[in-house]
Amino acid sequence: MEESFYRRSGEIQCEEVPIGEVVDQVATPFYLYSYSEIVRRFKEFRESLLGYDGLVCYALKANSCKAIISLLSKQEAGADVVSKGELYRALKAGIPPKKIVFAGVGKTEEDIRYALRNEIIGLNVESLAELDTIEDVAAALSTTAPVAIRVLPDIESSTHPYLSTGDRSSKFGVTRDKVVRAYRRIVGSDLLEAVGVHAHIGSQIRSIDPYRKLGKFLSDLLEEIKKVGARLQYVDFGGGFGILERKNDYKMVPSPGEFIEALLNGFGQAADDYQILIEPGRSIIGPSGVLVGKVVRRKRSKEKNFLITDIGMNDFIRPSLYDSYHQLEPVLEREAGDEEEIVDIVGPVCETGDFIARDRKMPPLKEGESFLVRDSGAYGRSMASNYNSRPRPPEVMVRGGEYEIVRESETLEDLMEGERLPAFIQDNEN
Ligand code: LLP
Repeated sequence: MEESFYRRSGEIQCEEVPIGEVVDQVATPFYLYSYSEIVRRFKEFRESLLGYDGLVCYALKANSCKAIISLLSKQEAGADVVSKGELYRALKAGIPPKKIVFAGVGKTEEDIRYALRNEIIGLNVESLAELDTIEDVAAALSTTAPVAIRVLPDIESSTHPYLSTGDRSSKFGVTRDKVVRAYRRIVGSDLLEAVGVHAHIGSQIRSIDPYRKLGKFLSDLLEEIKKVGARLQYVDFGGGFGILERKNDYKMVPSPGEFIEALLNGFGQAADDYQILIEPGRSIIGPSGVLVGKVVRRKRSKEKNFLITDIGMNDFIRPSLYDSYHQLEPVLEREAGDEEEIVDIVGPVCETGDFIARDRKMPPLKEGESFLVRDSGAYGRSMASNYNSRPRPPEVMVRGGEYEIVRESETLEDLMEGERLPAFIQDNEN
């Protein structure tokens, strides 16, 4: 397989574009995405569902940049959204409403109204109480609401505790003991229509076992759901398919095809009777993007060797929040003989937790030198903030030998956009 980020004559390239060329034109830090890698990864999922009535609903939360959703929309992707804002973005990018599912534990009446007005395939419902709210909104709109229960399957996914969503203590979904009751409730309502069943067991899952279990769990459950008279159209298996974080890791990560095969094996015969939905986010966009930054200063203390960079936790929070590992590489290759050093790669934000990597063995980077943070396309820019009043970074997309800025950097004016002084401050000079 041809990699989309690779070295040619010592310099790292994205497709046909040397990244140094982009660094000369766009101020760091910036996110850089490979168009071809996104398409290739998306197609791997789509092809793994060939022969089935399948739909790949890209999870917008991983990265909701307009250019990315639009290119996926052209590849016939559906969308998994969790807010009015994400639904707005998906529709704007041209994803047909009948390919959009809406999940989330805290849907408000306003979210539900917006989803019903736009006639999406289904609301993935996270509690019985939420069914009451959906019914009220459907009644007010004189419509029927298509719903799917998000089931909490109690399957261990062996990932970071913050990323596990399918075990018993999770806030997500409806526990097994209440699922049949929930469908009975839906079948008995004129305002609700049972269209599917949903589960999502976690994120960055690196083994196929939980998926095999999930497939089996849902096929058994469907037998029970059928008995209460619900006629479902889709089964939505969620996302969570892991990616390789360390290129030389001895533990390989299954491919999209292997994940889906395990799911469908577990699910068995039932696969022919339903539309099969999956909701990958990270596995499509994570490895398709890098974050490019520069070393601002080197600093040495008694204990530590620091590389202070222009990438703050506001730009990229994953290492601070999950202690995630991301491979770091200088844009230009080292000269032979340069000895590696152990450094903390930190940001400019006023928090000790503002780091990209700690005690990392790296080639010695000089002040002003650019480097990249690998596999940061997912949950990078979409989780960026303005903390420390730092404008959020721009985004660039490469296709072949071309590149374009797909989202500008924020300006200082943007930082204060929408703020106003109340009269009692303006009038009262003292
Ligand atoms: N579907 C649902 C209902 C989800 O909650 C999620 C992710 C996905 C699909 C997509 O999962 P993926 O394929 O991307 O693993 N901020 C964290 C990840 C949080 C994931 C939340 N839910 C991180 O940076 O690792």
